[in-house]
Amino acid sequence: MADMSSHNFATAQAAKPQDLAASPSAPAVDQSVRPIGIVLEINGAGSQVAIDLQRLTECAKSSDPAVALAGQVGNQIKIQVGDGWLLATMRSQKKDANTPGGVLAVVDFLGEGAEERLTGKLHSFQRGVTRYPMPGALVFPATTADLRQIYASDGRNLIQIGKVFPTNDIRAGVYVDALLGKHFALLGSTGTGKSTAAALILHRIGEAAPQGHTIMIDPHGEYSAAFRETGMILDVSNLQMPYWLMNFEEHCEMILTSSGPNRQEDAEILAKCLQQARMKSRMAEGFGKVTVDTPIPYLMNDLTTILQNEMGKLDKSTTTAPYVRIRSKLDELKGDPRYQFMFSGMLVGDTMAEFIAKIFRLPSRGRPISIIDVSAVPSEVTSTVVAMLSRLVFDFAIWSREDHMRPILLVCEEAHRYVPNEKNADGSSVGKILSRIAKEGRKYGVSLGLITQRPSDLAEGVLSQCGTIISMRLNNERDQAFVKAAMPEGARGFLESIPALRNRECIICGEGVSVPMRVSFDDLEDFKRPASADPSFVELWNEVGGEEELIHRTVQRWRANGR
Ligand SMILES: Nc1ncnc2c1ncn2[C@@H]1O[C@H](COP(=O)(O)OP(=O)(O)OP(=O)(O)O)[C@@H](O)[C@H]1O
Ligand SMILES: [Mg+2]
Repeated sequence: MADMSSHNFATAQAAKPQDLAASPSAPAVDQSVRPIGIVLEINGAGSQVAIDLQRLTECAKSSDPAVALAGQVGNQIKIQVGDGWLLATMRSQKKDANTPGGVLAVVDFLGEGAEERLTGKLHSFQRGVTRYPMPGALVFPATTADLRQIYASDGRNLIQIGKVFPTNDIRAGVYVDALLGKHFALLGSTGTGKSTAAALILHRIGEAAPQGHTIMIDPHGEYSAAFRETGMILDVSNLQMPYWLMNFEEHCEMILTSSGPNRQEDAEILAKCLQQARMKSRMAEGFGKVTVDTPIPYLMNDLTTILQNEMGKLDKSTTTAPYVRIRSKLDELKGDPRYQFMFSGMLVGDTMAEFIAKIFRLPSRGRPISIIDVSAVPSEVTSTVVAMLSRLVFDFAIWSREDHMRPILLVCEEAHRYVPNEKNADGSSVGKILSRIAKEGRKYGVSLGLITQRPSDLAEGVLSQCGTIISMRLNNERDQAFVKAAMPEGARGFLESIPALRNRECIICGEGVSVPMRVSFDDLEDFKRPASADPSFVELWNEVGGEEELIHRTVQRWRANGR
């Protein structure tokens, strides 16, 4: 047996004779019934324990993967407290200068369970701590059986997304209502498997709720491949988003070209003319008051005519420049084929109800998710388009609240582009609406899923509004620090392993799981994966021939903008 006398294990309160008497030379000894250390110091959320290095070496040979990794950072241990067990996660370790072969470790408490009298097994695990151990209490490795109790479902609706690390067979479940109820964030450096994980989670949610309502904003056009069968794929060719659905702020972003004091002047003119154009609509007759924001159709031609008339009323000394600027931008938008998905002549009719039904999947008709591929939207207006879609989700939720509530999940890839931190903020409408949804969406049944590789570039406060954080490997220290700040105290032990996660592995903590866990995601079938596979340069560079046609086709598509 290792030299534990220096830590006085023999006099530890919770010691049982069989714990310390087992001989290390006995064949196939069950390492889990022998302590690996003792508790030295306790505080509210965790404790300091002394671990025997030699015991860890013995445990490493165990056939139970949970016991084999006992004592390693991010893994679990259990502490005997009276006739029950306290489960904790190893946060950090350092050499004990005073004890040869000794290690001092800090652990975070996870929760507690009772011990079954006859078998000594852990059962009835609950999060949180009601009874703290005393210094001197014995520390044991947690077994796969213990972990199964910790990660057992409590009966709420869940989706299974992978396996709990380090076990081979414990399924990792996420509670759907809790995950969606308080927003979630999916973080990880590039190539760690975020998009595939997002597809996996959305597929599982879709299987659990085939009548759901999910909108995925897809800036790279990756997800259409993954949701061919269960999703409604919308891109510039079939989105047909009417321009008149824009509110005034979005109109300004789309139409005004000036900056500084000129912009204010242009905005005032646009507001006046836009309101008149909306008033001219036949629908306006039925409304008491029509504002610049009222989502009723108006004709582009009406707007240009009104601008023209207003310009005619000016006296000679006043400049017409603002009117000319607005008019020429309107003409440009109407004429540019890249903007046809919004400004096509077909979009003048009142299609608001159809548009909402289509993008929110109401009814879902077996396709509970709409993938809005904005990759071909001209980049200067992508954020306005995303703002408009997000605002529609939020406004719809607000105005349908008194009716039968239909919660909607809005998932946003590359979220740092749309809700940037102060340093990169440009005051655009998309940042404002997404921050608002993060703050208030829950009350109206709007859930936000933010996916990003740069959590430190996200607006402050948005990450902390996410009840569940799913973090894959983050290589950058600043990003790690941001995630740590947003994660609950008890998950710190897991956090330390974020830089060391493998691809397709993550740490999940927060509302969506009963206890923080490290998960290896399931392998997702080929046809359910987003089109984001890493290209093989060697293979592709070996494919020769047909270059001329390839360039020709590319140039054609380029010029025609995908048409
Ligand atoms: N669960 C999984 N099942 C099968 N393949 C996976 C899984 N997770 C990741 N992969 C593979 O790993 C590669 C990278 O994954 P993915 O595109 O999801 O990474 P990413 O984090 O979204 O990268 P980026 O930040 O560049 O968007 C892909 O080739 C994908 O097929
Ligand atoms: Mg991706």
